[in-house]
Amino acid sequence: MEHKITIISGRDVRIVSGKEDATLLETIRGCGAHIDAPCGGNGTCRRCKIIVSGSCCDISGNTRLYKNEEALSCCLYPRSELTVTTESVSGSKVLTDEADIAPGGEGLGLAVDIGTTTVAAYIYDLATGKCLAKKGEMNRQRAYGSDVISRIRHASTPEGLQELCSLIRRQLSEMADAMCPDTSKITYVSIAANTVMQHLFAGLSPESIGVAPFTPLSLFGEEKRACDYLPGFNEDTKLYLCPAVAGYVGGDITAGLMSTGIYESDKSVLFIDIGTNGELALGSRDGFLCCATAAGPAFEGAETECGSPAKDGAIDTVNSDLSYHVLGECEAESICGSGIIDAVAALLCNEIVDETGRIEDGENYHFNEKVYISGQDIRKIQLAKAALRAGMETLMTRSGKSYKDIDSVLIAGGFGAYMKIKSACAIGLLPPALMDKTRHVGNSAGKGAAMALTAEGRALLSTIAEKCSYEELSSSPLFNDKYIEAMMFEEWEEVL
Ligand code: FES
Repeated sequence: MEHKITIISGRDVRIVSGKEDATLLETIRGCGAHIDAPCGGNGTCRRCKIIVSGSCCDISGNTRLYKNEEALSCCLYPRSELTVTTESVSGSKVLTDEADIAPGGEGLGLAVDIGTTTVAAYIYDLATGKCLAKKGEMNRQRAYGSDVISRIRHASTPEGLQELCSLIRRQLSEMADAMCPDTSKITYVSIAANTVMQHLFAGLSPESIGVAPFTPLSLFGEEKRACDYLPGFNEDTKLYLCPAVAGYVGGDITAGLMSTGIYESDKSVLFIDIGTNGELALGSRDGFLCCATAAGPAFEGAETECGSPAKDGAIDTVNSDLSYHVLGECEAESICGSGIIDAVAALLCNEIVDETGRIEDGENYHFNEKVYISGQDIRKIQLAKAALRAGMETLMTRSGKSYKDIDSVLIAGGFGAYMKIKSACAIGLLPPALMDKTRHVGNSAGKGAAMALTAEGRALLSTIAEKCSYEELSSSPLFNDKYIEAMMFEEWEEVL
């Protein structure tokens, strides 16, 4: 049996049919409305909250009438006509900084950076090389889990793969429509993304990336017909997915190495893209050694008890005296990734958290009645920072480099752009010895995707990808040793 369900998400209102054996989360994400579900519907993250009116059955089989009440959408099944309001993502920060590209082409170019968390899209005038419009949104696939592993899991059936594929293709088409009323003028589309996102967009199963030896079905880097992926695009419009290096080092990294110009550096540069995965590349114009670590979603504000994306109401900055700033200048309701890193740094500096990561009095640290940091949250940050730092140290050891050999450290990606370098060094995510050499480079993947709208850019990307080699860390004893070494919070005093 099916019931009429009215779904309100900000200013977006959709009326759909909901099956009695489908959770409200499944119905909401099935129609493409926004909902956050970092745990993918397991009932553990409590982020799929809705306000619901109408009769529902919960997972224990109890049916009752909900009257404008808060509930978890993954735990309810409809039993009558319902009205459901999902949490608004208004004010969510998506990094959309752009750069000019080489002029001389024809028509318009659509460049896209598909991140696991966010999607940034740009329209370029290929004749002038100028960016005409840009748009950033949360990746709608977040309703199926916040990290690539949960997406791989969901895509392990043909139906799941189809769902995720359609969702991202529809999102890109809608973003293109919103920026460019006449998409028939788009003559070229280029996409930079991690390898799993590229598989999902291309309709290829990413399942093999989820198990050893983590081999992708494709490393991309070839031109296709855009209309085979994005209905409504011209038959002669081409689509290009930036070349990947391995299952966990994707086209977003090769694009970043190109747009930052470090592929022509004669000094050693460490490039780090921090998201739900940490992707790293160390090298110079002679080539790069790359690796990836599973940082987990904690850095992006997911799966911590009061975590959220960077949006209105989120604490985004915590100062060393534990005073804080809230996005949207309102009462704090959550804490985003940059706020959590700051908070752990400040708790260490104030000796509220010790070097093992234990909160001294064993209690959660509260910013207000609603927002706090728990011992579990600190543990998740600790594991994530240890993985990322161990990845860096492994690359340096394998390349025979010490800190003094590194000319600069570039931090890319949406989360990285807002992360304070001093706080990242204080918690040991980055080496304090490299603090003064570290800088943000913004959305280097989006800028690289834009450069790939030109033939020169694509040729350069192929060369860069060929010069990248990959170090698999999951079976590396060296990485394991570095991981254990990086677990403690020992370096904060060096940063004071
Ligand atoms: S608790 Fe419902 S999606 Fe996580």
